[in-house]
Amino acid sequence: MPLVHLPPLPLDRDGDLPLAVQLADALRTAAATGVFRAGDQLPSTRSLATELGVSRTVTAAAYDQLHAEGWLAGRHGAGTFVVGLPERSAAPPVPGAVRGSARAPRYDLRAGTPCVEVLDASAWRRAWRAGADFPPDLRVDVAGDHAFRAAVGEHLMRLRGLVTDPADVLATCGSTSATAELAATLPAGSTVAVENPGYLRAVEAFRARGHHVVPLPVDEAGLVVEAIPGGVAAVYCTPAHQYPMGGRLSAGRRIALVERARAEGFLVVEDDYDGELRYDVAPLPLLASLGPDVVAHLGTASKLLTPTLAVGWLVAPPAVRDAVLATRATSGVRPSRAGQRVFSAFAAHGDLARHLRRLRRELGQRRELVVAAVTAAGARAVGDAAGAHVVVPLPDAAAERAVVAELAARGVAADGLERLHNAPDETYGLVIGWAGLPRTDLPAALDLVTASLQPSRTTLP
Ligand SMILES: Cc1ncc(COP(=O)(O)O)c(C=O)c1O
Repeated sequence: MPLVHLPPLPLDRDGDLPLAVQLADALRTAAATGVFRAGDQLPSTRSLATELGVSRTVTAAAYDQLHAEGWLAGRHGAGTFVVGLPERSAAPPVPGAVRGSARAPRYDLRAGTPCVEVLDASAWRRAWRAGADFPPDLRVDVAGDHAFRAAVGEHLMRLRGLVTDPADVLATCGSTSATAELAATLPAGSTVAVENPGYLRAVEAFRARGHHVVPLPVDEAGLVVEAIPGGVAAVYCTPAHQYPMGGRLSAGRRIALVERARAEGFLVVEDDYDGELRYDVAPLPLLASLGPDVVAHLGTASKLLTPTLAVGWLVAPPAVRDAVLATRATSGVRPSRAGQRVFSAFAAHGDLARHLRRLRRELGQRRELVVAAVTAAGARAVGDAAGAHVVVPLPDAAAERAVVAELAARGVAADGLERLHNAPDETYGLVIGWAGLPRTDLPAALDLVTASLQPSRTTLP
């Protein structure tokens, strides 16, 4: 374990606070600003006392305090270690979010995390080695490397049935960043319709550009197209697997949406964040296949591989693509070349296809465990035909908060739907994601979930 190098720890010998309290505060502040990592070893109380010119009673009392708070562990003589970290900021609590615990959650059931456990380590290393096999260069093509655009074109054709020319594919830094880029191309002060509940980072991307966001209801057949008001400049949606409710936009609604977009001149943003992960339902044509003239299609490597690659793709009508490219001249957005190269190298020799098969198998098995656990608790899991999360509907905000808080107290991080409302809404429930934790942890995490889903909380009116 690394012995951590401590930053300057200011102590006011003439102050009102005892030195041990000041020292504990200074260490806590340092930890909260990211100076320590879990596993770091702190200096002994004796050497820290010498370094600071205080008595050992002061350093021992400060360590004892932090030990009691739960983020230091260790015994006298065996070293003191950082085992968790205090909260990084004093941001106000988000309703339904897991907060207040000094430790990282024992089980992370939040949706949106990829399953890196099934990533074959040697294939991954091979992709990085191949991705590095280029001479250093200075020129950046902000549209993306040709090999990447070709690899995405192939991926879209094989997995999503979308036929594109590599020249029509733009590399992005991921779907969220691409949504922000699209937001920047809309006329100032536009009205943009977004699913509710929905992906809040998309809502924020539009609002950050000064657009007016209107909520759109969703049901088990996805976005309710008839509810789109007149006069919108864009509609953002997740047709393959509505985030978070899990509905799949029906064939009829797909056609209706594209027809309305054509008739009313709005752009449809199709966020296909996990469209490759489908279980026992047939694929429906992408909106981008039905309406290539009105749809901006967004894909990402974040759920298939990892968000640390920071790459995704955009396929959009030429005018939209050019407008995005034009903003890159000044915005500084330049999709990661390393990420693109790793993605294309991973795709080149079948490793991506093999990985996707493993991922689907693994996530499909986990899905069965989750649905069985929820059903055994007498509750309902909705939206499980695709992706890596389900929603367990709950009757009201009080039930949702009680379930989320109880899980948090037991070390399980999971979100409630309330966090994903972008306007007042009566849809409540627990969102359970199963990709991000080790497979071996899933049964224990699910036991805690079932215990929290008492019938008094889950019975719908
Ligand atoms: C609906 C939706 N879109 C996009 C993303 C993120 O994609 P990216 O990492 O490419 O920004 C997420 C992540 O959770 C998501 O839930």
